[in-house]
Amino acid sequence: MKILSLKKISSIIILMFLVLMITVMHSCKPSQLVAAKTGAQLWAENCQRCHNTPSPSTFSPEQWETVGLHMQTRALITEDERKKIVDFLKQ
Ligand code: HEC
Repeated sequence: MKILSLKKISSIIILMFLVLMITVMHSCKPSQLVAAKTGAQLWAENCQRCHNTPSPSTFSPEQWETVGLHMQTRALITEDERKKIVDFLKQ
């Protein structure tokens, strides 16, 4: 009897662990979605909160690099997101 209940307990623990793993894997999805976004999408989502988005032709590639660094601190975006946005704006 004792051994049986121990088995039950361990299978419950394994089940709970699986549920936890699935929950963790699901919570990773949003960040994967961010990773899949293009520079143009990130630019549209992050850069018009405070002002109209200047068009890519407004500045030279060198100027966009500086603008990117400056606006990264304002928009609170990651290094990755900034690179994507700046790459898009340089085109
Ligand atoms: C939190 C608000 C905020 C966000 C988000 C933001 N900006 Fe800005 N932006 C400003 C402010 C304020 C200024 C003007 C003052 C300054 O340069 O700091 C500005 C100025 C600029 C300028 C200069 C405009 C000019 O005509 O000289 C550019 C270009 C620019 N932002 C691009 C961007 C891009 C690209 C993004 C997205 C990565 C972005 N901004 C996100 C607040 C923001």
